[in-house]
Amino acid sequence: MNSNIRGRYRKEGYCLQSFCQTSLVRSIKRIIEEHFDQTITDYCLMGSDEYRSIVAECQDEINSLNIAEKLVFQEKKIISQFMISPFLLQSRVFLRATRPSKEQIQEYVGYHRESFYSDVEHKHIVDQGMTIWVPIKNVNYRNTLNFIPRSHTIPSTEIKLQPKSEDKSSVKKGSSGHKIGLLYSPKEIIGGVDLTTGVRFDASVGSYIVFSNQLIHGNGINNAEDIRFSIDFNILPHSDKTPVHIPSDFECFSI
Ligand SMILES: [Fe+2]
Repeated sequence: MNSNIRGRYRKEGYCLQSFCQTSLVRSIKRIIEEHFDQTITDYCLMGSDEYRSIVAECQDEINSLNIAEKLVFQEKKIISQFMISPFLLQSRVFLRATRPSKEQIQEYVGYHRESFYSDVEHKHIVDQGMTIWVPIKNVNYRNTLNFIPRSHTIPSTEIKLQPKSEDKSSVKKGSSGHKIGLLYSPKEIIGGVDLTTGVRFDASVGSYIVFSNQLIHGNGINNAEDIRFSIDFNILPHSDKTPVHIPSDFECFSI
């Protein structure tokens, strides 16, 4: 059973799991519902800055519960299949609150690997890490996260990138948009990956996905009618043999 999980993860680059308990997910959903008490029309008409500040405030409250630590501890039987303890845990989760069909502004992150945006010192450990993606509310087959099947096996030297052109709602460094995980300097893949093969993860509320940081993912345009809410965070290997500065927002964690 355990070797099956690890074998599938190695082959597909991800693993879909059901939560053993859903109380933490329900707590996050409750916080979201307290912060997002206006109508969908109100939010769709709202400017990017105002909307992103609401998301950032909600994200702060979710993080005040130390949610990443609690989720990892709760799911330690699964997590320990993929990562040797102690590891580096991203202590603050990102809340993704993507409005429907806001294609013209950057409200989701385009196709990427985490290492596209990490500093040079940490690229190698980031590539060996994994992302935990947790759907919280209004996630269905029309709006879950996209990924490129088996793209975790593509050597990074084959992937061609270029800076993405700015748009009128581009994210400023240090702004609310940056704080909630949007990119102030986005890049796009222009070669080495067939982006037309992207598919959506088959995930719904009550489940979560563990995926390799090398699996190309993102581009989650929301084609449904409601705001899609999910959280995500990273886990990186920690080795005494190859010491590096612990990246900001990460801390050593044992399960
Ligand atoms: Fe990502």
